Amino acid sequence: MSENNSASQSYMAPTKQVRLSDLSARKGSGKPFAMLTAYDYSTARAFAQGGIEVLLVGDSAANVVFGYPTTAHISMDEMCVISAAVVRGAGNAFVITDLPFGTYEASNEQAVMSAAEILRRSGAHCVKIEGGVRIAPRIKAIKDAGIAVCAHIGFTPQSVNNLGGFKVQGRGEGAEGLIDDMKAVVAAGADLVVMEMVPADLAKTVTDMCPVPTIGIGAGPDCDGQVLVWHDMVAFPSDGHRPKFAKQWGAVGQTMADAAAAYKREVAEGTFPSAEHCF
Ligand code: KIV
Repeated sequence: MSENNSASQSYMAPTKQVRLSDLSARKGSGKPFAMLTAYDYSTARAFAQGGIEVLLVGDSAANVVFGYPTTAHISMDEMCVISAAVVRGAGNAFVITDLPFGTYEASNEQAVMSAAEILRRSGAHCVKIEGGVRIAPRIKAIKDAGIAVCAHIGFTPQSVNNLGGFKVQGRGEGAEGLIDDMKAVVAAGADLVVMEMVPADLAKTVTDMCPVPTIGIGAGPDCDGQVLVWHDMVAFPSDGHRPKFAKQWGAVGQTMADAAAAYKREVAEGTFPSAEHCF
């Protein structure tokens, strides 16, 4: 049996729909769950087959799918189209989708309308919204409308310019602010809390204090779940920037470049298509 086959036999795709209650049950269990971004049908299928329990249609699609300079550039229409594609491929995975920049800040009413729109148009199970204390009223309004919410505190990419660049959050005196953010989003009703680029010891403190599951990205090993942008975990494209917190489990960018070069060579040589690829 090849290495690949034996690896595929260890896959454990969820046999029934993953629900919030399943994720809540993992809180403090010492059995962290895995979340990955996904932005299309085929990738969602591959990750669901690989046993990933939670898929995030991140607005990081702005960067890795659409090539925009920041996540603030992605539109509601773009998020709805890719989220619906992910849901179609997600199998039993729980699907969270990001509320794009500019669709929730103005008022509680705007936030509820946007959350309802993206869930209605995509079929996702939960919305994610960036911000702590300042955004807590929006979380409460969305929850009161009957919609599951994942908060996102620490480094919040939509505010990259306001935060002075890609910086670790919560260092020194900032630690108290992060704890206040966690308390505010939880009091507002958040079901899950993503914590991005936070020192590992602070992330552990916040996780221990937090009654709902925390999901870390660059936040150490003690969160209740982990999330990565999938392009970072398989080096796609091969020359892309990789954050310090992202480990690589594959080299998809290089594999695709090699395949493209081999295809080009065979077309040029006239060895593709051969008889077996002809009708
Ligand atoms: O958009 C995204 O991919 C995210 C993750 C970085 C958590 O928000």
